[in-house]
Amino acid sequence: MSKITAAITAVNGYVPEYVLTNQELETMVETNDEWITSRTGIKERRILKGEGLGTSDMAVPAVEGLLKKRGITAEEIDLIIFCTTTPDLPFPATANILAHKIGAKNAWGYDLQAACSGFIFGLATGAQFIESGKHTKVLVVGGDKMSSIINYEDRATCIIFGDGCGCALLEPNTEGYGIIDSVLKSDGAGSQLLFQKSGGSVSPATHETVANKEHYAYQEGQAVFKFAVTNMAEVAAEVMERNHLVADDIAWLVPHQANKRIIDATANRTGITPDRVIVNIERYGNTTNGTIPLCLWEWEDKFKKGDNLILAAFGGGFTWGSIYLKWAY
Ligand code: UT7
Repeated sequence: MSKITAAITAVNGYVPEYVLTNQELETMVETNDEWITSRTGIKERRILKGEGLGTSDMAVPAVEGLLKKRGITAEEIDLIIFCTTTPDLPFPATANILAHKIGAKNAWGYDLQAACSGFIFGLATGAQFIESGKHTKVLVVGGDKMSSIINYEDRATCIIFGDGCGCALLEPNTEGYGIIDSVLKSDGAGSQLLFQKSGGSVSPATHETVANKEHYAYQEGQAVFKFAVTNMAEVAAEVMERNHLVADDIAWLVPHQANKRIIDATANRTGITPDRVIVNIERYGNTTNGTIPLCLWEWEDKFKKGDNLILAAFGGGFTWGSIYLKWAY
């Protein structure tokens, strides 16, 4: 019997309507368009406005669009892996909430927390259930309402992050398409450099933690940058080297969109030319778990069957990783 690989058979995305521009941020904190553009590459990001809306509310239209594209019903989904750092609630899992909202009555699911590397970890994890023969339809969702944990008085973080959600369906393939290899890493030594101080079991919410603004994302930008810029590039190079791939073999590099300078460093390290590097950071900023699936969604019609894609991410934790996949359609 030929080997089963997990192939992406459909992708989709959703970004909220509200556009937060650099110009609007100039009215909120001491910053300017020139600084933000030159340091990060970001021009605008999307914000989910509206009372009572959470990350799952962006996932619903993304997933419903994916099901329509693929021509299947929600009942056919076996498993939902929801990669997010901003779940609707601390518990239950947003995967369960999403399953209920879309009518995925036969699916089980769980949330996966690996900050900005979440979608890569989710794809690699979901692929195991396909490769083992356990499931035939695994939905991997990556999305965040980062605006729910951003302090819009902190110029070090509020200029970077945005809201958005994307998703991919994994199905079995016996012709060699799909996820071929992954390199996944983490190092808890970096856990205090990009994190949310309170709201977990170590420091539950109190009046004091709220007053001290400890429920927002905190980042030591320069320190994180140093790790991200080398590790994201290294891991992409590692997955290429061990699969005997050179830059010319790669149709598309799909990097996590954290900072244009980190994307450029990854492209340089792997030798992949800018025309084959997917970049939409200027329009969405860093949507954390959403960046890679949103890139796949926006570039889907440019991909050809058999294209070699390298996905790479770096995030809080620290977490980082890269996936080599052959596009299946
Ligand atoms: O996605 C998960 C992983 N996260 C990342 O990969 C993010 C990694 N880090 C970064 O992308 C960058 O570190 C930032 C974009 C966050 C910051 O860029 P930077 O080039 O590292 O700037 P910096 O923090 O070293 O600050 C440089 C200067 C400072 O002023 P002085 O001390 O040189 O006078 C800051 O106070 O820029 C100042 N600054 C700002 N100025 C205008 C910091 N933030 C701003 C701002 N607008 N928003």
